[in-house]
Amino acid sequence: MVERTRFMLDEDKIPRSWYNIAADLPVPQAPPLHPGTHQPLGPADLAPLFPMALIMQEVSTEREIEIPGPVRDAYTLFRPSPLIRARRLEKALDTPAHIYFKYEGLSPAGSHKPNTAIPQAFYNKEEGITRIATETGAGQWGSALAAAGAMFGIEIKVYMVRASYNQKPYRRILMETYGASVVASPSMDTAAGRAILAQHPDSSGSLGIAISEAVEDTVMRDDTHYSLGSVLNHVMLHQTVIGQESILQMEMAGEEPDVIIACAGGGSNFAGLAFPWLGRTFRGGRKYQVIAVEPEAAPSLTRGTYMYDYGDTAKMAPMVKMFTLGHDFIPEPIHAGGLRYHGMSPQVSLLKENGFIEARSVHQVPCFEAGVQFARTEMILPAPESTHAIRAAIDIALEAKKSGEKKVILFNLSGHGHFDLSSYEAYLSGKLEDYEYPAKEVEEALAHVG
Ligand SMILES: Cc1ncc(COP(=O)(O)O)c(C=O)c1O
Repeated sequence: MVERTRFMLDEDKIPRSWYNIAADLPVPQAPPLHPGTHQPLGPADLAPLFPMALIMQEVSTEREIEIPGPVRDAYTLFRPSPLIRARRLEKALDTPAHIYFKYEGLSPAGSHKPNTAIPQAFYNKEEGITRIATETGAGQWGSALAAAGAMFGIEIKVYMVRASYNQKPYRRILMETYGASVVASPSMDTAAGRAILAQHPDSSGSLGIAISEAVEDTVMRDDTHYSLGSVLNHVMLHQTVIGQESILQMEMAGEEPDVIIACAGGGSNFAGLAFPWLGRTFRGGRKYQVIAVEPEAAPSLTRGTYMYDYGDTAKMAPMVKMFTLGHDFIPEPIHAGGLRYHGMSPQVSLLKENGFIEARSVHQVPCFEAGVQFARTEMILPAPESTHAIRAAIDIALEAKKSGEKKVILFNLSGHGHFDLSSYEAYLSGKLEDYEYPAKEVEEALAHVG
């Protein structure tokens, strides 16, 4: 019998609802706090930033939230995404492990980010919003929202972290082609950006700074809302189409994963894959080993503190209870720009704090090594962020080889790396650096929280 490699679902198997883990969480989530008063936030406090439909999703405890028709219709452009068995990688590793990956890099923008960009643009449009401001780290989120803005007729302004802006000019051009305007962050367009540039004229920026600029841009204008590509509950929710599809596809493959892996920046592709599986566990099903993989240069889950902190550097965004390295901590300019965030999704943080998931951190050089091995066996060039998941999958497959265990590994390949070739060039020419964990900087940044 020919063994199958790709497990494909028909269009009618695109999920009809998103899965909301809040319905099944064994421990309740702490409420977000107002950044000024430190009092719990109500829906009205968030209304200047988000449409009410998203605010209600943020606080909902309904298990299933219906996906609106126009959003599901837009999903047909790239969903369901394939589940692929990495047979060639398994062979190269000579492992008894079975390695499956869910491939989100076939979306038009190149990653999982359109799964939430489309509904966010849709709900804003429904509320009559004509302009959205946002940040982008890797450029993947900015590209996804720029494309969704074009789809629903919304103007998009993107504050792109300067390190990525310099590393990836083609991401900027892609966003501009979709019709967005893009500025390097920190920028002179906002007071937050100007204040940082006054102190650090060469600042490489960070997601925390870019979020401050986008939030400031939003609150200064009546026609503008803010949109975040990760961290918040509604973003985790939208990404669960990934995990729901993967459950059906693993059934097609006739296997169940022992280990579920994804990289984690703000937590959304991790949540997207893992939450539907964890929900089954919480409702009485079997347990899985679930691992979030983050960079050694920004290891919030593995080395951060679980506490209330601001989502952004200038303390304009709500405070949430999460694993954090401190809102003014600026990670080194590693090439996985989408993982350079000081905090982590409150839902993912809560699961880690309560022992339902694990986390590990890895240096960028071994990640690129894994990414290159993956490209040479499976042909797909992974995004630098996604190589973190590949590194962990390979490590576990190699452990399985030692122990002779036939582990089933499922990981999320969150995006392709076609716009990240300068980072591959740096790796191939031996110029890529690893940065030691910045213990002192994190200690200082954590001392500023409060
Ligand atoms: C390809 C890719 N994977 C992962 C991430 C990390 O984000 P998250 O943790 O929200 O999935 C990003 C962020 O930009 C990304 O572009």
